[in-house]
Amino acid sequence: MEKPEKMETFHITTFGCQMNLADSSTLAAAMINRGYRRVNSESEADLIVLNTCSVREKAETRVLGRLGELSRLKQKNPHLRLAVVGCMAQRLGSQLLEQAPCVDYVLGTDRVFDLPDVIRNSNGTQTILTTLGRENIDTITPIKETPFSGFVTISRGCDNYCSYCIVPYVRGKERAHSADFIIDSIRKMVADGVVEITLLGQNVNSYSCDGTDFPALLERAARETDVRRLRFMTSHPKDLSRKLVDVMAGQPKVMPHVHLPLQAGSNRVLQRMGREYTTEHYLEIIDYIRGALDYVCLTTDLLVGFPGETGQEFEMTLKMVEQIEFDSAFMFRYSARPGTAAARLEDDVPEEEKIDRLNKLIRLQNQVSRRRNQREVDQVRFSLVEGTSRRDKAVMRARTEGNKTVLFEASNAAAGDIVPVRITTADAFTLHGRMEETL
Ligand code: SAH
Ligand code: SF4
Ligand code: F3S
Repeated sequence: MEKPEKMETFHITTFGCQMNLADSSTLAAAMINRGYRRVNSESEADLIVLNTCSVREKAETRVLGRLGELSRLKQKNPHLRLAVVGCMAQRLGSQLLEQAPCVDYVLGTDRVFDLPDVIRNSNGTQTILTTLGRENIDTITPIKETPFSGFVTISRGCDNYCSYCIVPYVRGKERAHSADFIIDSIRKMVADGVVEITLLGQNVNSYSCDGTDFPALLERAARETDVRRLRFMTSHPKDLSRKLVDVMAGQPKVMPHVHLPLQAGSNRVLQRMGREYTTEHYLEIIDYIRGALDYVCLTTDLLVGFPGETGQEFEMTLKMVEQIEFDSAFMFRYSARPGTAAARLEDDVPEEEKIDRLNKLIRLQNQVSRRRNQREVDQVRFSLVEGTSRRDKAVMRARTEGNKTVLFEASNAAAGDIVPVRITTADAFTLHGRMEETL
């Protein structure tokens, strides 16, 4: 084993999006391949890794708070090593050490998987690596976080430069894995027992490699592998094609769920966000999706308080939410990210107003979610069992085709099974049902 003495165990805490979760699984595999052992709590670990997010100011504040706590832990245990990796490490580089001198290793988004080498070569000195732009860096097969579902990263980075967003700066330009590599990764995971795979990219719809576009990739994944369920995220409205929807309609393995961030309901705001679509175009896509698929769940991201957003423009977001009826939404209030185009605009919506708009939006979306979920009552949804409910071990927790959580009582279902569940009641966040024995 090539690992240094005294450092045997590691723990990774992940902040941010699914891409970071996927990267943490790959990093864990890279560490385990080199003889380290993963432990379940930070207190047992010789090496603590924080895989970080920069998308909102709050995400970074949380990491700095954690580092404050960990620095106290390190004073008690001088053998402890700390690594900060991912988006915030990329953004701040050496500045991070000024704010948190206790950190030993700072590795940017394209250097995360170098951590075992860095530990070996650094001889205990602080190391910062933030070079961006390497091709196909994640060729290690990630460990599975659950025995039956997994992520496959199809592309890294983003070329869209939405004016509010830090991701293109911290993740670099878009780079795609070849379709053959992706198909091979899926096959390996399926051979290892995985039944559901989510294809990941910042904008999966702009995937393109050696003449294969995203619909063609999805079709190949469905036809050429034995995976039982396929999902994908995130879709960008400017690039989502009818061809993709047609593949979804023709391939029962592709789950009927589209996560399609709208961000705002006013064309002037969308234009200033650099989103490159109009609300009319967005509505056309939704109509096409709902026309082509008998059953589909639509989810979205919404951003309130973008610079210059007027009260009237915010009302237009509420109107779109009411009209479209998303099944659920991730809702955020704008925070300026240094170096982005929007950071040069005056952040002129007062904080209390942003909070007020966000609360109004959440209240409306919760009503809409409840309405949508209640429309599922009496329907049968084939659901992938993930485990038991946190509150009650006799209750199983599963994920429907549309990606909703459903709880049901059953003694004859196990994690990893796909079972028919008839929905009996629903609230804004969860479906409840009973397993059908006769189907
Ligand atoms: N690639 C995906 C996800 C990007 S980040 C996409 O294009 O949709 C996830 C969400 O965070 C975004 O959709 C946006 O709603 C939100 N977000 C991004 N930058 C933000 C900022 N500066 N302030 C608040 N929310 C932000
Ligand atoms: Fe950010 Fe826009 Fe790229 Fe999404 S598409 S990651 S919001 S720049
Ligand atoms: Fe994801 Fe946050 Fe980075 S949303 S890509 S972890 S900035």
